[in-house]
Amino acid sequence: MNLFGRHFLTLKDFTREEIEYLLDLAAKLKEEKKKGITGNRLKGKNIALLFEKPSTRTRCAFVVGARDEGAFPEYLGKDDIQLGHKESVADTARVLGRMFDGIEFRGFKHSTVEELAKFAGVPVWNGLTDEYHPTQILADMLTMKEHFGKLCGLEFVYVGDGRNNMANSLMIGMTKLGVNMTVLAPKSLFPSEDLINLCESYANESDTKLLVTDDINSVSGADVIYTDVWASMGEEDKAKERIELLKPYQVNKSLIEKIGKESTIFMHCLPAVKGYEVTEDVFESANSVVFDEAENRMHTIKAVMVATLGKEDDR
Ligand code: CP
Ligand code: NVA
Repeated sequence: MNLFGRHFLTLKDFTREEIEYLLDLAAKLKEEKKKGITGNRLKGKNIALLFEKPSTRTRCAFVVGARDEGAFPEYLGKDDIQLGHKESVADTARVLGRMFDGIEFRGFKHSTVEELAKFAGVPVWNGLTDEYHPTQILADMLTMKEHFGKLCGLEFVYVGDGRNNMANSLMIGMTKLGVNMTVLAPKSLFPSEDLINLCESYANESDTKLLVTDDINSVSGADVIYTDVWASMGEEDKAKERIELLKPYQVNKSLIEKIGKESTIFMHCLPAVKGYEVTEDVFESANSVVFDEAENRMHTIKAVMVATLGKEDDR
């Protein structure tokens, strides 16, 4: 598999086989790191990390992943550079592309990361936009594979804000990889029709099912119950109305009981606002794998950088 030189903007751009390859590479890099082996796969590469929004996991995953393989990451926060204020995105992209070998972007508009990719001349990686969060999905899939030994055929239920970056990206990833996907949300927070149609075509191709519903009983039989914050970064003014709307969709003991399975795992991309989208007891329960997901951000982001910019065999 050769992904060298590719951007990583959304999983729409990747085939099932390419996503599986990235997961296998991440698992290999993780195993090596656990044995104390890190390499030179990104040796000497300079990597720009652009952040319009805050981050713990994504930023640290890019920094540690890059350093582990011999690269030099440089953090550029929203007040550090002129991106979109004094200088157009296209101009910033062309400047950074002359100095850096790869560029990560986290921010608001998805069009910004697309514009960076169009003009930078080096691989651009999406570290979260309002619409998509594709690196998170790789970490979630790796976690599920580690836990269940497979992805295909699992029953996955995402509950909460059905039209945010996580819901969108999970829908794309899971339907491509043969996981039965349910988006459980109030009707006013359903994903866009266009994305539902696209993911239905992925589901047909991988012989799996996509269900978008507001019926809480659809959690029954889930292998994975997944939630995310009710108001994403940049939507702070919507927090109050979202609490009213999403209260019935909280992941709590009674929702877990409705699933009716001992083996169901709880997942969350983090950060979590406990007491809202999930209760403390579920978050801290033995079936919660949220910190495995968090760790796997690093191994999977490292795999994306190595596959698109590095040399896989240079240990
Ligand atoms: N899950 C995730 O993207 O976390 P951060 O916002 O801390 O990067
Ligand atoms: N939907 C959340 C994800 C955080 C990782 C947000 O955009 O804030």
